[in-house]
Amino acid sequence: MKAGIASLKPSTSFFQPAMFEDPYPIYSVFRKTDPVHWDEGLEAWVLTRYEDVAFVLNDHRFSSDRIAVGRKLHPMPEFEPLFDHLSHLMLQHDEPTHKHLRAIVHDAFTRSAMKRWESVIQYRVDDLLEIAVDLGKMEFLVDFAIPLPVMVISELVGIPIEDRTQVKAWCDDFAFVATNFYAEITDEQLQRGLQSVDAFRKYLRHQAERIAPGADMTLLELMVQSQGTDAEFSYDELIANCMLLLTAGNETTTNLLGNGLIALLENRDQLSRLNKDPSLIPSAVEECLRYDSPLQFVGRIALEEVAIGSRTIRPGDLVLVMLGSANRDPERFPSPDEFDIARPNNHHLAFGHGPHFCVGSQLSRMEATIAFRTLLPHMESMKVKTQDLRHQQNYNLRCFQNIPLKFSQSP
Ligand code: HEM
Repeated sequence: MKAGIASLKPSTSFFQPAMFEDPYPIYSVFRKTDPVHWDEGLEAWVLTRYEDVAFVLNDHRFSSDRIAVGRKLHPMPEFEPLFDHLSHLMLQHDEPTHKHLRAIVHDAFTRSAMKRWESVIQYRVDDLLEIAVDLGKMEFLVDFAIPLPVMVISELVGIPIEDRTQVKAWCDDFAFVATNFYAEITDEQLQRGLQSVDAFRKYLRHQAERIAPGADMTLLELMVQSQGTDAEFSYDELIANCMLLLTAGNETTTNLLGNGLIALLENRDQLSRLNKDPSLIPSAVEECLRYDSPLQFVGRIALEEVAIGSRTIRPGDLVLVMLGSANRDPERFPSPDEFDIARPNNHHLAFGHGPHFCVGSQLSRMEATIAFRTLLPHMESMKVKTQDLRHQQNYNLRCFQNIPLKFSQSP
């Protein structure tokens, strides 16, 4: 996994290396003393309170279109095809274009549409776990939490098994470019992203053109069909947003599974409670999302002057809204640093808020629910030296470097 936005900058007053292991005490200081913080190093605002984060994400004066910033930072003509490609992503658009692009995938991702994939996910979870239990040990990330989301989304989209390793490599390059292009990224990294995106685009185009009428209704087929009924929706938009679907849920869902498992193993009282009442699993998944959010922040660009608290944000300013901090705000969550699998009113912001609320939220919730339900009978017997675990050096994607575990006995 590569470093994300801001992890490349050695020193800003907000992002500090101590945050890699535990950002929450530092978030707490900023929430109390400087909740709307202007960071000279980042040249961006950093917002840490729940109320402010939710406000920005739901206010049309803050734009998701960061392409112009990327173009300004990397004005060379050879990068133009990359920015052109990124400009087709729903993530980069405001209304009304955003709504139009999002509609392409909306039907495929409703809760009822997701239901039909439940057995596919259960099959994959059983398969991955069986191998580990037989061996009596596993590296939870490499053997379970990384492959599961890749297998599931590849199956949903309709990527053949033999192509999945290559697709995952393209996804990693694409994800890196898509999350960093408007801030910290070198021309060399951009160049590599450009090559991968180009190859990925050609591959998906080929796959889309090969779809035979009447084949299984994969996501790609659903998208191709909806393109047929919508003249304003271009092939480039279809390919770009298909690439987004393949990419957006990989590392985030891996992190939900990894961070969630460790939270449960470190809070044995909560694990016993879950064992006694497995109907709490969906609520425990929400608490995992809140307690140690997979994605710690997202960015917006101010379109107009906006006052927040005593500070004035100017048009063109970059604003980083800290989801991970909002989810630990005591003004919103009583005892926010406690892990409580039955927390009431757990309206966390781990999937964002407002028009760009995560399209794949139901899918990743379902993956985590099935994974934890299947892992639960084995969890009491899992031995992990949690004190030895280290996090990735990434301020945005919150993830352990590895999670080696042993099963002390069969359930
Ligand atoms: C948007 C988090 C899983 C697809 C978002 C946003 C967040 C997020 C915070 C909002 C971004 C913004 O406001 O700028 C997560 C987390 C996940 C997860 C924490 C797992 C635990 C998935 C999965 C998929 C997916 C599995 C697809 C299969 C998307 C897409 C968007 C999005 C397409 C853009 C929505 C839009 O622009 O309207 N996600 N996500 N995500 N997510 Fe997820």
